[in-house]
Amino acid sequence: MEWLAAELHRHNYLYHTLDAPEISDDEYDALFRELEALEREYPDLRSPSSPTLRVGGGLLEGLAKKDHGSRMYGLEKVFSKTEWRAFAERMARALPGRPLSFWCDPKLDGLALEIVFENGVLAEALTRGDGTRGEVVTRAVRTIRTVPPRLRGEGPFPASLAVRGEAILYKHDFAQLNKRQEELGRKIFANPRNAAAGAVRQLDIAVARSRPLRFLAYNVGNVDWGEAVPSTRHHDVMERLKSWGFLTPPDGKLCSGLKEVEEYAASVRMRRQLFPMEIDGVVIKLDSLEDQKDLDYTASAPRFAVAFKFPANQARTRLERIEIQVGRTGVFTPVAVLAPTLVGGVVVSRATLHNEDEIVRRDVREGDTVIIQRAGDVIPEVVGPVLSMRPENSVSYVFPNVCPACGEKGYRESGGIAWRCGNLSCPDVRLRSLEHFVSRAGLDIQGLGSSWMEKLADSGRVSSPADLFDLTLDDLLKFERMGETLARKFLASLEKARQSASLKQLICALGIRHVGEQTARLLAERYRDLDELAGSDAETLQSLPDIGPEVASSITSFFDNAGNRALLTRFRALGLWPRRQAEENARAPNPLRGKSVLFTGTLSLPRHRARQLAEAAGAMPAGGISRNLDYLVAGESPGGKLEKARSLGIPILTESEFMRLLHSD
Ligand code: IVH
Repeated sequence: MEWLAAELHRHNYLYHTLDAPEISDDEYDALFRELEALEREYPDLRSPSSPTLRVGGGLLEGLAKKDHGSRMYGLEKVFSKTEWRAFAERMARALPGRPLSFWCDPKLDGLALEIVFENGVLAEALTRGDGTRGEVVTRAVRTIRTVPPRLRGEGPFPASLAVRGEAILYKHDFAQLNKRQEELGRKIFANPRNAAAGAVRQLDIAVARSRPLRFLAYNVGNVDWGEAVPSTRHHDVMERLKSWGFLTPPDGKLCSGLKEVEEYAASVRMRRQLFPMEIDGVVIKLDSLEDQKDLDYTASAPRFAVAFKFPANQARTRLERIEIQVGRTGVFTPVAVLAPTLVGGVVVSRATLHNEDEIVRRDVREGDTVIIQRAGDVIPEVVGPVLSMRPENSVSYVFPNVCPACGEKGYRESGGIAWRCGNLSCPDVRLRSLEHFVSRAGLDIQGLGSSWMEKLADSGRVSSPADLFDLTLDDLLKFERMGETLARKFLASLEKARQSASLKQLICALGIRHVGEQTARLLAERYRDLDELAGSDAETLQSLPDIGPEVASSITSFFDNAGNRALLTRFRALGLWPRRQAEENARAPNPLRGKSVLFTGTLSLPRHRARQLAEAAGAMPAGGISRNLDYLVAGESPGGKLEKARSLGIPILTESEFMRLLHSD
């Protein structure tokens, strides 16, 4: 029991305070339950500081701490219908003769917060901390856009109201954040929870402000109702939170009886991937606040609420070896080659290890048994090694200092986290640049996959992206296994790209370091064409939003390079010379120009194509639903976004209506 307690304390600290877990959530739960069972059997041996008696982790030094008005409890977890039934029966036995109804909503995985409103005005925000005492994060929380600085509506408001909920990042915001971090050569976050927690628990609130955090309210703590009429039911609390301007978890539902709860849980679980945020279960709460009060709390959790957890998207497997991939900017990315294993229904055989520092920090070694996880649509990643299963002859991994593709010595910039190959003619750098040029992020030239790109590059026939446009049918047919149909298809899509590539696409396709899709879009709005961009100096570039000295100097040095200038000359001669969208639009005005558009449901064309078409017409693809959205385009089985858009009065288009607008110039 002592060993279990010490281990659990350690893992709590790793998870909550350092945001660097060593074991999977399932393994943590297993240890926790083992200790709980022993404590039930030997109550006298339970230590007063047992981890089963506390919630959350420790506190971070540096932020002020403060007691919560009332304790923020954790939730007991159940993992199966049987366990849920046992929990529910305990509730029913304690409340004989009362019909039970439950408020159910998805369980969010972020950072739990308590935000106190005095007479309707935001006064203070605390993290959960150890449940009793939290860190004061008022300033960071004020920067969260979904936290109302004062309650909406007429009132009367409670004299004092503690709103509880979770600060989270939506999946698409998380993906964009990581893309941006990568573009800027900064730290990549392991999952949305870590990124959200890191942003709030910062002494520097600029960090919180720069991350698109959202706060979703799911409960209240201490309330002094004052002039306001007290709630007697949890669903009424939720309605009031909504009317006061809070975002609440999507799909919350009042269920009567166990069966309805089970159907609800199954339906959320099935649609898990479709929610905009990570969801790791559903939370089931007794609806009657009087019943809640009667049932009260155990030492660590309410008896009236429970978390019904979904199986985690984590698994254990053997890390066979670490492979180094060389990217188009020469960056070495370590990739874990794994014994293939199922994670959340998908076979995973490779996972990213991010960079040298991450390998050192987690001390991941070849031959280790590792925990891997898939979070949403994010690339699978290695969480860490299972130390107890490490082979005896294991040795620390030594990060290579030569390029595995060309053998040239690599370098690591001071302050940078990545090793790079600086050889401009490194075959991998060239190949990856070509692949990037034709990829979706670039000119989106379809027809040939990456193995064909490799053949074209290896043959020496294509060494620069401009060479692609000089290819003839005869050139292509010289390759083994290249048929005429495939060759013609490839030539046709090259021709299409040559004629219709947008300036944003071409800027992005060039693969300038630190210039990803977002920055390319910005530049394409500001500059008339590549010539004007090439002539811009660092100072002018830096005056644009979001462009710092590093990005600016990367752009100017790209265009200072003689080889790159020659490439531009060739593009112009080829007629691959797009102009700024505004100029294009001026020739062909379109009703979608300048409008924000969001897609939902299944369309007859891939989502990214629809987005590109919208962009080409001058529209701005939106990340989510807000009052500022101009159009929601709804395909088949649209889901929750449609209802939300309706409730906000946003115009909704069918796919064919969208297509008509697209072509109505
Ligand atoms: S209600 C009395 N609802 O999960 C019920 N909690 O693992 C109090 N959590 O401490 C909580 N999603 O921080 C509730 N929809 C949800 C939730 C939720 C996530 C958190 C909460 C809790 C933790 C327990």
